[in-house]
Amino acid sequence: MYNERVMQEFAEPKNVGFIENADGVGKVGNASCGDIMEISLKIDNDVITDAKFRTFGCAAAIASSSVATQMVIGKTLDEALNIKNKDVVETLQGLPPQKIHCSVLAEEAIKKAVEDYRGKKNV
Ligand code: FES
Repeated sequence: MYNERVMQEFAEPKNVGFIENADGVGKVGNASCGDIMEISLKIDNDVITDAKFRTFGCAAAIASSSVATQMVIGKTLDEALNIKNKDVVETLQGLPPQKIHCSVLAEEAIKKAVEDYRGKKNV
């Protein structure tokens, strides 16, 4: 069902974990499948310097979280907000149609983590 790129990212995900004293945390879930994804960010001067994820979910959700965290590190907050689920799917070289919502969780978790930071800092 999954291509090799997805399986590789699922088998060896990057940035697994939680950043203690994170500057922003975004936790989202999908009601229909029950999967949950949490992304924590370290932010320095508007730039994301570190990102980690904890995902209770399917292989596509774990692979999506892994690439999403890799994509945001080094980006400004505005650049990170521009990352769409289709960018995650492209990086994964495709997901089965019924698994597209898993990549949407990654987009939402990034947005929520940035909003969390902005809300706290009032920036
Ligand atoms: Fe719901 Fe993958 S099946 S996140």
